[in-house]
Amino acid sequence: MSANVQLQRRPDESALWDHHKAFDVERVRADFPILNERVHGRALIYLDNAATTQKPEAVIEAISHYYRHDNANIHRGVHLLSQRATDAYESARAAVRRFLNAQSSSEIVFVSGATVEINLVAQTYGRTHIVSGDQVLITSMEHHSNIVPWQILCEEKGAKLRVAPVNDRGELLLEKLEELLSSRTKIVSIAHVSNALGTVNPIRQIIRMAHSRGIPVIVDGAQAAPHLQIDVQDLDCDFYAFSGHKIYGPTGIGVLYGKAELLEEMPPYQGGGDMISSVTFEKTIYNKVPHKFEAGTPDISGVIGLGAAIAYIDSLGIASIAEHEDELLSYATAQLEKIPGIRLVGTAREKVGALSFVMEGVHPHDIGTILDQEGIAVRTGHHCAQPIMDRFGIPATVRASFGLYNTKAEIDSLAAGIEKVKEILV
Ligand SMILES: Cc1ncc(COP(=O)(O)O)c(C=O)c1O
Repeated sequence: MSANVQLQRRPDESALWDHHKAFDVERVRADFPILNERVHGRALIYLDNAATTQKPEAVIEAISHYYRHDNANIHRGVHLLSQRATDAYESARAAVRRFLNAQSSSEIVFVSGATVEINLVAQTYGRTHIVSGDQVLITSMEHHSNIVPWQILCEEKGAKLRVAPVNDRGELLLEKLEELLSSRTKIVSIAHVSNALGTVNPIRQIIRMAHSRGIPVIVDGAQAAPHLQIDVQDLDCDFYAFSGHKIYGPTGIGVLYGKAELLEEMPPYQGGGDMISSVTFEKTIYNKVPHKFEAGTPDISGVIGLGAAIAYIDSLGIASIAEHEDELLSYATAQLEKIPGIRLVGTAREKVGALSFVMEGVHPHDIGTILDQEGIAVRTGHHCAQPIMDRFGIPATVRASFGLYNTKAEIDSLAAGIEKVKEILV
């Protein structure tokens, strides 16, 4: 029986406690129908979770239920279906508030994903606060979606993008980062976890460094939200961005957390329906936050699916998930380190989720293609993080990334698959 179904039937304290006690990966796997797929005649081994995660039955069912029973546009309708859809949509916002420990649901903005969230901050907060000669500070391990929006802004404003470097393990050089914080720095935008290396950045410390100089911080949490407990009040970040599809929710929906006072003073990102309180040809009064940033009909089913994904994660407990995934990452690291000719890229002391590697004399795409024949899905390429590839002097890596349903047996298969690649190509 699936974990979520059992919790729905016995929503009492003891059921929750039972579930938290032991992380039963086989029981968890039964919640994900796609894990029964066969690939080239083999059982699917899905190790591409940093790109997107698979969806549990509870998420698929929540979306299907919405379209079968509640589908209507939200916020403006007096009829029952519209009220039901609005309730489901706003309940999901409340679930996200709890997930991030934000102070208020008005600090939770739904847009399509981390990419749009960072663009939103660059084009609203950034555009109104950054002038010629100012600086934006990022790091050399950022995903392109936390580089290009700032480059566009800097180009438009005549501002400068500054980049904090990393050491050979792929850890941020904090003293260098601190040296780059100046009176001209107007925002720091930094990944909580690197998608290419798996490095966990000490964002609490960085936020404190920036705040002591009055500089706000946006955290790109796309790779952290699936693996770590996030508490935006404890972090004291000004913005936190993540995507639903990387936390077992649907594609096309994501969350921008912003401190209420910042969201309130920011201009809207896009104009249209729902983001207004009143419109005349002379003047438009904008809606209150977060609706000011949700122009047009939103991805209602996506938000509902995301709410179900968060309920699913809560039913397992993020601490239990993190413990399971830590074990997987340590095991995978040990297994791959044993294979001659394999070099891990990104060996930070604090890592989660992903293991990047290269094999001497073999292109990562060839490794990925042979692993695919074994039913093993990994990602190969620059992982939308070309500057960090350049830092390590390589064009690409193979990246195996882990989710809550992966097992040590799957990692053994990965190691065996890599040995097979060596037999064929080396
Ligand atoms: C660290 C990081 N930031 C941002 C993104 C962009 O997320 P999305 O494509 O869901 O907008 C990703 C996606 O891989 C990522 O790994």
